[in-house]
Amino acid sequence: MSKHVPVITIDGPSGTGKGTITQLLAQHLGWHLLDSGALYRVVAVGIEKNNILINEINKICEFAGAMEVAFGTEFEGSITLNGNEISHLARLEETAEKASKVAAIGELRAVLLQRQRDFCRPPGLVADGRDMGTVVFPSADLKIYLTASAEERAQRRYKQLINKGVGVNLRDLLQDIASRDERDANRQVSPLRPADDAVVIDTTSLTIDQVLEKVLIKVEDTVTPDQ
Ligand code: C5P
Repeated sequence: MSKHVPVITIDGPSGTGKGTITQLLAQHLGWHLLDSGALYRVVAVGIEKNNILINEINKICEFAGAMEVAFGTEFEGSITLNGNEISHLARLEETAEKASKVAAIGELRAVLLQRQRDFCRPPGLVADGRDMGTVVFPSADLKIYLTASAEERAQRRYKQLINKGVGVNLRDLLQDIASRDERDANRQVSPLRPADDAVVIDTTSLTIDQVLEKVLIKVEDTVTPDQ
């Protein structure tokens, strides 16, 4: 019998601190990390570079099935697509918007499913996304779902972007976040929602350290690496 590889899923809308918590947790445990949103962002960048339109579903799936994606080291954030460095492009707000449109294509989600599952390797995986606990890793050992008010999430994103030197407007960010939430939560396939067995943490008035502390308590309670 093959050895059990433990998986922790961290789902929720953007701006809840998912990415940071996933990184801190993966580092703390010494496990692998899957940033599934980055895969949808890479597809968004790739189809644009190849002049594929959002309604050309077969071409999008063909592209996504064949694309070579590398995530540098798991924690340093570099992303290459078919040998070209695209991290900057992939992280732009406008790419997130396009990613949320391609992510609504069910056929594309099916193409990316196995690629995501392949990240599950010993000693364990922390997977960040929207449907990690509901669809990609339904039998994960621990499922966390982070939430926060849209206003708080827009504020956090605003600070992040301003710190990176990106000029943005808070009202536009709030609108973008609200429209992306709406699209992610109401799409037909893999809509954004907590798994029935997820632990939901509202992070609106919590610091990252406080969220991490809550998550670590759950990890200690539920995850046994050598089952
Ligand atoms: O997490 P991130 O903001 O990078 O994700 C970009 C977009 O990709 C999200 O707005 C969402 O539409 C989509 N996504 C998804 N399923 C995932 C991860 C991301 O639909 N597991």
